[in-house]
Amino acid sequence: MNPLKHVAIIMDGNGRWGKKYKNSRNAGHKAGLNTVEKIIRETIKNRISFLTLFAFSTENWKRPKKEINYLFNLLENFLVDKIEDLHKQNIKLKILGSKRFSPKLNNLLNNSEKKTSKNTKLQINLALNYGSKLELIEAFKKMNRKKTTISEKNLSLNLQTKNIPDPDLLIRTGDTKRLSNFLLWQIAYSEIFFEKKLWPAFNEKDYNRIIREYKNIKRNFGKI
Ligand code: IPE
Ligand code: IPE
Ligand code: MG
Repeated sequence: MNPLKHVAIIMDGNGRWGKKYKNSRNAGHKAGLNTVEKIIRETIKNRISFLTLFAFSTENWKRPKKEINYLFNLLENFLVDKIEDLHKQNIKLKILGSKRFSPKLNNLLNNSEKKTSKNTKLQINLALNYGSKLELIEAFKKMNRKKTTISEKNLSLNLQTKNIPDPDLLIRTGDTKRLSNFLLWQIAYSEIFFEKKLWPAFNEKDYNRIIREYKNIKRNFGKI
């Protein structure tokens, strides 16, 4: 049975779900939050230490302003409502990506990270305004400035995911088989599951089925 320390998820399909069932993409984003809560609970039950959630990519700024505003409002309200509860559950929140949001949201994100920084049960990495290519470029620039030797280890240490083990398992919901600029370096050896269901329809049962399947895969890492 493979150990499972880190699950990363590309939470895709909110817009299509919302459009189909509520005639509104934004309703899909709202419904997607319920799935987030379900999956956090199930991640704890499965004693997984790291959960990385892709919530907004560097490319998602190309969407209509109205949708972007709705998404960030949703996130703001979610954090205001839930951070205390997450903290009580001993959950640590870390943001991946550049915090270039409104001063209010930046503050909220910084305070949430600070408040939960010593927690140990589960680390949730929320990828927000995150793009893997940008992360890599910034890491190389930093190494160049500090005259750091280029090596796999040093590159890993200069990424935003430093001190986070690489994902064992990557799940993308929403019936699309692509990576969309997510953790390209870190998933070199991850087991990847593309799931047909749209994110708001994804549930504990689906998650546990994937975890079970993952645990039985023969992971070679180049060996036989
Ligand atoms: C993923 O759902 C959430 C974000 C990118 C913010 P989408 O909004 O991409 O949903 P679809 O893919 O359009 O259905
Ligand atoms: C990936 O989904 C980003 C997130 C889930 C946050 P997208 O819906 O933005 O990906 P593309 O554009 O279809 O590749
Ligand atoms: Mg999408």
